[in-house]
Amino acid sequence: MPTNGKVGFGLLGAGLIAPFHANSIKASDGCELIAVADLDPARVKKVTDKFGCEGRRSLDELLDDGRIDVICVLTPNHLHRDATVKATAAGKHVLVEKPPAMSLKETDEMIAAARSAGTHLGIVLQCRVRKPILAMKEAIASGRFGRLLSADAYMKWFRSTEYYLSDAWRSSRRSGAGVTIQHAFHYIDLLQFLMGPGAAVQARMTNLMHPQVNLEDTLNAFVNFANGAQGVVVASTALWPGTDVRIEINGENGTAIMTGERMTTWKFRDEQPGDEAVRQLGRGSVGTAAGGPADFDFADHQVVISQMARCVRGEQSEPIIPAASARASLEIALGMYKSAATGQPVRLPVTDEESIWKD
Ligand SMILES: NC(=O)c1ccc[n+]([C@@H]2O[C@H](COP(=O)([O-])OP(=O)(O)OC[C@H]3O[C@@H](n4cnc5c(N)ncnc54)[C@H](O)[C@@H]3O)[C@@H](O)[C@H]2O)c1
Repeated sequence: MPTNGKVGFGLLGAGLIAPFHANSIKASDGCELIAVADLDPARVKKVTDKFGCEGRRSLDELLDDGRIDVICVLTPNHLHRDATVKATAAGKHVLVEKPPAMSLKETDEMIAAARSAGTHLGIVLQCRVRKPILAMKEAIASGRFGRLLSADAYMKWFRSTEYYLSDAWRSSRRSGAGVTIQHAFHYIDLLQFLMGPGAAVQARMTNLMHPQVNLEDTLNAFVNFANGAQGVVVASTALWPGTDVRIEINGENGTAIMTGERMTTWKFRDEQPGDEAVRQLGRGSVGTAAGGPADFDFADHQVVISQMARCVRGEQSEPIIPAASARASLEIALGMYKSAATGQPVRLPVTDEESIWKD
């Protein structure tokens, strides 16, 4: 902890998502951005110049710094596990960008490492904190929807070929690129957050618009949830100019739809006094990354980061998105890859996940 009593943060990775973390830390009371580390000194300099923190070359240098309480793991997806296990073994709390890791095995190793070190481990799946999602979650918990019938995610986005070619890992399956694990993961996670675990999936993956990369840019999947509901995930980065994500929940007694960050439908058989206020939730004018990778603001990240600081100060028992709660979302995403590869429906959990990232 820094001598001023603030919670100290260190960023591992100074790429696209780093400024979202840096801005969030700077804007959060009782938090201090101590240092950023990256293999690429030019990227480190860009962040240190903008945010006035110190620059480092490696995770080891962050771990040696006693002022740093929390490491934010902002490296490509295939590197999440090693950095997290090492940082927790050094006694640091860790916030890992989504997806938690490339496999359930890796995720379990991260969870076990944090448990044995007695440190907090949170995942940055910041869409969960959107107000319409929290309202849906509450209505589901209170039984207002009645029997849940359907839960769908429609992510019709656009990413250019330049985006995929801008860094080697963005076009590498083994590094965790591809629309399912990289972009749609947020919305697969929202469905899992709202409905609970998946029971079975069937998926098709195609490349509609990015022939230069060997990845799926489009996912069409059918999900059976363990609670008996069903749903679809339609996700693409091929659909110019990119439109706001829709999350749709239907129960026997009501329907709710979030579009981008706005609640666009909130209709129940038993209209209640607070319903009109719920219909106004969401800021509307804020970008949600539909057309470009950095086309969103850091407000949701800030909630995740400030709550991690509360955990470090002992004011909260666990991060807002504990790693274990993201595991079931990864299970669904991995099942989609397995199903697309075999052309068959897949019962969850996937049993031979090692086969999934083979080229
Ligand atoms: N939550 C969100 O909405 C969101 C949005 C974008 C990206 N992400 C996630 O953030 C993570 C990073 O994505 P990005 O778009 O910023 O990638 P990026 O390629 O722009 O940045 C990653 C950085 O990590 C650095 N790096 C790689 N290995 C390293 C190592 N061993 N030590 C130090 N630095 C190392 C690279 O040099 C690079 O600068 C990914 O997990 C991605 O899924 C999340």
